[in-house]
Amino acid sequence: MKIPDIIIAIDGWSSTGKSSFAKQLAARFGFLYLDSGAMYRGVTLFAQERGFIGAAGVIDEPALEAALPELELHFERDENGTRLFSGSRCIESEIRSMKVSSFVSPVSAIPFVRSWVDERLHAFSKGGRVVMDGRDIGTTVFPNAEIKLFMTASPEVRAQRRYDELIMKGQKADMEDVKRNLAERDHIDSTRAVSPLRQAPDAFVLDNSNMTFEEELVWVQGVIQGKFGILQ
Ligand code: DC
Repeated sequence: MKIPDIIIAIDGWSSTGKSSFAKQLAARFGFLYLDSGAMYRGVTLFAQERGFIGAAGVIDEPALEAALPELELHFERDENGTRLFSGSRCIESEIRSMKVSSFVSPVSAIPFVRSWVDERLHAFSKGGRVVMDGRDIGTTVFPNAEIKLFMTASPEVRAQRRYDELIMKGQKADMEDVKRNLAERDHIDSTRAVSPLRQAPDAFVLDNSNMTFEEELVWVQGVIQGKFGILQ
């Protein structure tokens, strides 16, 4: 199926499989995959390593804002997929830890952090042929994206997915901690003042609680064909 030079924006709740789905979609269509959550995770890791997040979880926003110009985040693609780099250092593994997950929502709620990330997402997406996933891609970052998807799944399925992901990466995981972290992030992501997680009015909803990957891909191809007609 030949897809036009479009932007596919995928938003939705944490651990609904957005990243895996977006990656597969990008690979199948020959598009670039951009993980906007990874950018927020990269900023959070930077803030932690520089000591801008205190023991009580208080973020030193002025210090973070002053230091942010020193941070250079970019994605590199290889046969294993897209990985996030801070300068020459690959930080793909560190940004997925529970330590980063615990603070990424408050960091991503800071307005200057959001504009810093948005600017880079726009620069990375010049020319289209991009699949981007996040929380506000179809509403704020690319409100004119040609295809917008909103992903959801039951809380149980989402917690199990996050738990399996951590275990697979050899990280410590406790199901109750995972559930608590998901609930907290849902709350912060959907109630923050700047760019809260919302479903765009023109987004197609994908509830994949009981769907296989292949079924999801067939579904999205149907959505694209519905919009652009039958594509060769
Ligand atoms: O998709 P993820 O779990 O890696 O995202 C990490 C955090 O970043 C999540 O708690 C919400 C935030 N985020 C955001 O606010 N806006 C985006 N476009 C992507 C992620």
